[in-house]
Amino acid sequence: MNLDPATLQLIECLAPGDWVSGTALAVQLGVSREAISRRMQKLEGLQLQVEKQAGRGYRLDHALELLDAAEIAKGLAPTLQAHQLAILREVDSTNRWLAEQSEVVLCLAEFQAGGRGRRGRHWHSPFGRNLYLSLKVRLPSWPEKLPALGLALGVALCQRLQAELAIPMQLKWPNDLYLNGRKCGGMLIEQRGEAQGDCELIIGLGLNVHMRTAEIDQHWTSLALQEHTVSRNALSVTLAQTLLHSCQNLSNAHLEAALQQYQHYDLYHGQQVQILNEQQRHCGRSLGIDNWGRLRLQTRHGVESFSVGDVSLRPA
Ligand code: BTN
Repeated sequence: MNLDPATLQLIECLAPGDWVSGTALAVQLGVSREAISRRMQKLEGLQLQVEKQAGRGYRLDHALELLDAAEIAKGLAPTLQAHQLAILREVDSTNRWLAEQSEVVLCLAEFQAGGRGRRGRHWHSPFGRNLYLSLKVRLPSWPEKLPALGLALGVALCQRLQAELAIPMQLKWPNDLYLNGRKCGGMLIEQRGEAQGDCELIIGLGLNVHMRTAEIDQHWTSLALQEHTVSRNALSVTLAQTLLHSCQNLSNAHLEAALQQYQHYDLYHGQQVQILNEQQRHCGRSLGIDNWGRLRLQTRHGVESFSVGDVSLRPA
């Protein structure tokens, strides 16, 4: 979908969440009322819910706080310079887009038409409700403990969200962010480079912020549904700062220190779980992670470690 300037202007008019008449919108945008009505259909494609009422006009189901490039750039200076930051209105996937850029290091988008999740899944990315952020990290060589990176970043995010916003986020191995037992976000880390040369990482983070309705075949939640009221712009800065700071400290020692803290946020620690990987199901009690970030399960064969898979609670 191509988000043209007029549709963006329409979103800006509706963003405060108040009723606006079709006539007022037509005047502001300099188009006919019929054109406004047609443009409203475009908003559906962006998964924005618009209410329509005779005599009152149109309004969004909830107010929107649009991403403000200047505010985010200010919050990230001097760590990041303005030309290293991109705020996109729409994109297929921030991870894919960022991989093609030479100067931009961090990007956020209001809408992803093809948001990517782990293991080839789709990431639900309605316009303006959540945060979709990607960070590029270039390293001269591959860190030995790279598989532990997502876990270490998860720990850093949980610590910061708890300390700054009193949000008790937890981690579900390997890269899911959980709030009150439901998935609230996740990370997708993609890597490129030569085995013996440079390493380029694209770290993608999606966090459900203001989303209240969505058709997702998983138990999900958002900060708003859990009564956490936050500014998307302030939160963008907080999350980006946390990732930038953690990625400046990517030594094995730093990664190991972060992994030591993992158990404090480990959603399923000590519980009976099952892990699905390569069509196989393994059941056991979760013993937490080892210092390579692998999940350890006490199974009927002894202690087994897993480096990939989807974990869920074992049905009773
Ligand atoms: C998961 O839990 O499956 C990982 C989800 C990662 C989603 C984020 S949103 C920003 C970035 N761009 C993408 O296409 N995916 C990641």
